[in-house]
Amino acid sequence: MPFYTLGIETSCDETAAAVVAEGRQLLSNIVFSQAKLHSKYGGVVPEIASRNHLKKITFVLEEALEQSGVPLERINLVGATYGPGLVGCLLVGLSMAQGIAYARDIPFVGVNHLEGHIFAHYIENPDAPPPFLALIVSGGHTNLVYVKQYGRYEALGETRDDAAGEGFDKVGKLIGLDYPAGPQIDRLAKLGDPNLIRLPRPMLLQEDSSDFSFAGLKTAIVYYLKGHQNTKREDIAASFQSAVVDVLVKKTLQAAKKTKVDRIVVVGGVAANSLLRQRLKEEAEKMRKEVYFPSLSLCTDNAAMIAANAYFKYKELGQKDDLSLAPQPSLRL
Ligand code: KG4
Ligand code: ZN
Repeated sequence: MPFYTLGIETSCDETAAAVVAEGRQLLSNIVFSQAKLHSKYGGVVPEIASRNHLKKITFVLEEALEQSGVPLERINLVGATYGPGLVGCLLVGLSMAQGIAYARDIPFVGVNHLEGHIFAHYIENPDAPPPFLALIVSGGHTNLVYVKQYGRYEALGETRDDAAGEGFDKVGKLIGLDYPAGPQIDRLAKLGDPNLIRLPRPMLLQEDSSDFSFAGLKTAIVYYLKGHQNTKREDIAASFQSAVVDVLVKKTLQAAKKTKVDRIVVVGGVAANSLLRQRLKEEAEKMRKEVYFPSLSLCTDNAAMIAANAYFKYKELGQKDDLSLAPQPSLRL
């Protein structure tokens, strides 16, 4: 009889549930994205997000169980994200998972969302285990993590202000695009001149640091536009994207060199960016490093990665959490 894990994720604006057999076999992976509900605000509104998790969670859970063909009575373990994220959002998924564990008398494991992202790679690439360097780039995070083994991490750097995806969304808002603006900027940038606006490459000269800083790029664009009101959206998109990708690629390769890893894993919504994928592959190849981008459905927020991580913690590390485990909005890796 396979071991079934139910995963639940509600840390930001995706309500997600998944059933995974033996840690890697996805039987279902249901994601309800609230992006449309937040689009006119230019970003995620916490109160709207938590209310909609409450509205959707039961439906998403039932759908995940039904699609998997595994009834709730057969689930062996339940895992949920307990941080980092928006506290009202985390509470919804976490309480649901703890309630199920209590009612069914099965173990519960709380998952760190950032570690969860790394498990997108665990699911799809069993033949490319750690050590590797993970770049987690999304609307909420920009982190470089040295993964010595699954379960053993060294945080190398993170953003000091905005996450990379947040930068895409804010610049998008500036030029009249709806949230999330990343995919639209990616498309517009293909038609623009990346050298039109000379933007800084923040943190690039601090070679001993693996931290990032993206907030200044938006400010630089705001100042540029004051003197150049007729700049084409395509040129703004291309100039901004080129600056962000330059920094992400160079910082990642610097860290790969320092940690002497042969593999780089990129996860999170910004891993979809076509310039980032192309540039990182080209540059890493020159250094004889392998680069992995898991499937996009596993890179963006989902519960399959949470289930896989919970399974690993329970089975390989013998971890089990208390049903009173509280959300930790600022949890670190
Ligand atoms: O991982 P994700 O779905 O959610 C979290 O933020 O956790 O990432 C969403 C972010 C948004 O900021 C979105 O604009 C960005 O990923 N994004 C992109 C692209 N696709 C999504 N950014 C740049 N280029 C893309 N193609
Ligand atoms: Zn995420």
